[in-house]
Amino acid sequence: MDQLACALAPHLADGDAVLLSGDMGAGKTHFVKALLVALGYEGPVTSPTFNLMQVYDAPALTVLHFDLYRLESADQLDDIGFYEATDAATPGAACIEWADSFPDDMPDDALRIRITVEGEGRHVQATSSGPRSEKLLAQWAAS
Ligand SMILES: Nc1ncnc2c1ncn2[C@@H]1O[C@H](COP(=O)(O)OP(=O)(O)OP(=O)(O)O)[C@@H](O)[C@H]1O
Ligand SMILES: [Mg+2]
Repeated sequence: MDQLACALAPHLADGDAVLLSGDMGAGKTHFVKALLVALGYEGPVTSPTFNLMQVYDAPALTVLHFDLYRLESADQLDDIGFYEATDAATPGAACIEWADSFPDDMPDDALRIRITVEGEGRHVQATSSGPRSEKLLAQWAAS
């Protein structure tokens, strides 16, 4: 997982969206932490389960980390600044945990990462849904 995150980090850019899905404890937050470490962020990284969004100004890139687990309805996405933060024109890359809970409200062009627990290990499946995420996925796969 750390190696995968390390390989993805240098390709991430402003406006990218990464949607993370997988069961509780699958490693979504773990993956975001590893990404931030790879981007040179040295502070603590916590799960934004309670505050729903956390902003990390890593030296290489700003990362907007969302956890939608506790969000009750899609109406609240606007209240937490989700649409503005995930607009491709907004600086920073968005990493969104529990994106599957609100599939209709996610950015159209996003890298989707599904993590499944397999014994002691993890299985990671990634798909793209537009030109931007397709390029990101290709760069990730090639590294
Ligand atoms: N290969 C691995 N990859 C990721 N996490 C692992 C791995 N092996 C063990 N773990 C452990 O599994 C746990 C994953 O927890 P994490 O908080 O990242 O899950 P999550 O998917 O974000 O869950 P939640 O839905 O509750 O937010 C951590 O305690 C981590 O240390
Ligand atoms: Mg988490």
